Amino acid sequence: MSAPPEPRTPAPHRDCPRAAIRRLDPILVDRIAAGEVVERPASAIKELVENAIDAGARAIEVTIEAGGRRLIRVVDDGIGMGADDLALAVERHATSKLPDGDLTRIGSLGFRGEALPSIGAVSRLSLVSRTADGEGVSLVVEAGVKGAVRPAPATRGTRIEVTDLFAATPARLKFLKSDRAETAAVAEVLRRLAVAQPGVRFTLRTESGSPTVFPAESEPGPAGLLRRLGSVLGPDFPANAVPLSMAREGLSLEGHVGLPTFHRGAASHVHFVVNGRPVRDRLLLGAVRGAYADTMSADRHPVLALFLACDPGLVDVNVHPAKTELRFRDPGLVRALVVSAIHEALRRAGARSGAAGPVAGSTRPERCASTASSTAGSVCEPGIRSGPALSGDGASPTRTTEDGPLVSETSPVFQAS
Ligand SMILES: Nc1ncnc2c1ncn2[C@@H]1O[C@H](COP(=O)(O)OP(=O)(O)OP(=O)(O)O)[C@@H](O)[C@H]1O
Ligand SMILES: [Mg+2]
Repeated sequence: MSAPPEPRTPAPHRDCPRAAIRRLDPILVDRIAAGEVVERPASAIKELVENAIDAGARAIEVTIEAGGRRLIRVVDDGIGMGADDLALAVERHATSKLPDGDLTRIGSLGFRGEALPSIGAVSRLSLVSRTADGEGVSLVVEAGVKGAVRPAPATRGTRIEVTDLFAATPARLKFLKSDRAETAAVAEVLRRLAVAQPGVRFTLRTESGSPTVFPAESEPGPAGLLRRLGSVLGPDFPANAVPLSMAREGLSLEGHVGLPTFHRGAASHVHFVVNGRPVRDRLLLGAVRGAYADTMSADRHPVLALFLACDPGLVDVNVHPAKTELRFRDPGLVRALVVSAIHEALRRAGARSGAAGPVAGSTRPERCASTASSTAGSVCEPGIRSGPALSGDGASPTRTTEDGPLVSETSPVFQAS
């Protein structure tokens, strides 16, 4: 019998000669930093669409090929950029959005001056832009190497194309999922932004099917918002939701919340918008869970959209490079507001519709179980700042699946992957 092999012991660290510390090449620095901001096509699209929203666009068109890895194109009708701004826009830490450098009063979606240089570091980034009274200009950045600004034919606004995303960072490329899954992630990003910005028209084109369109809603107040929510969350939502409005100590909460009888198997139809920014926030999710705890089984999730408005100083959005997380100065106050506003809205809806009220412990999806009026008045004093203003000419056709995601009938892109 042969002796068992000697266990291999790694060489102790102290025997390793340490390489001298050196400064990294700036292009490598950009690629490393880009990893935090641009994780997949959907995160690049989130940044580009947020830039378009910050630029005041009323219509934003997104086109993708191969789930966004071959092509991402975002075209907006916003204020555009002149030659000097375009040259600066792709430089790291260059932004027009912090004019007085005050990180405690952020009013725009972007503020870090990182998104365009990050995308340009890991792709071929081509920009064409024109302001209302200027000439069209273009610029290309290839794997972090910036070209010259040139004149180019353009209409007002900005057109950005990202091709060969992650070609320069093959490790990241390997982590991407199927085209179908990446497309679903893009559609999810656009749904979240469409809830947050009902006054903006969004279009998503892919190689398959007709485009998905969320028409602009311009009618102010809950009615217009509800129409946009119907197009994003499904046509059954308005009939199964009640409006909510409550203000407390400088925080204003508005929105529409689904009845406890209208539930889903995932929390993907829970939308939070804080000062115009769609966020995924544990505290808010926990508050919603708490609010429905007595009326919905623990494995089910409500469908709702909540809009919190407050002084920007009461919330820190500079918490994560993707800007989807935040910290509230008084988390307890926010949680209490969310729980009481939802309880109050559901209680009043039950009283008004004459229904027996929420179904306790319901575990099966019961669709359209309530006829509670979706136009019932606000439950409390109007907030400090009202929810988004909207209106519109209809919803893109969507239907609700038995258990989960909402599916567009015009395009396969919203199908669950
Ligand atoms: N679609 C656009 N229309 C007009 N200006 C734009 C557009 N996209 C970018 N810009 C300009 O380019 C600048 C840099 O954009 P970038 O996304 O890199 O940074 P940011 O939006 O300022 O901050 P963040 O990194 O947080 O997104 C912006 O501050 C803005 O002035
Ligand atoms: Mg930006």
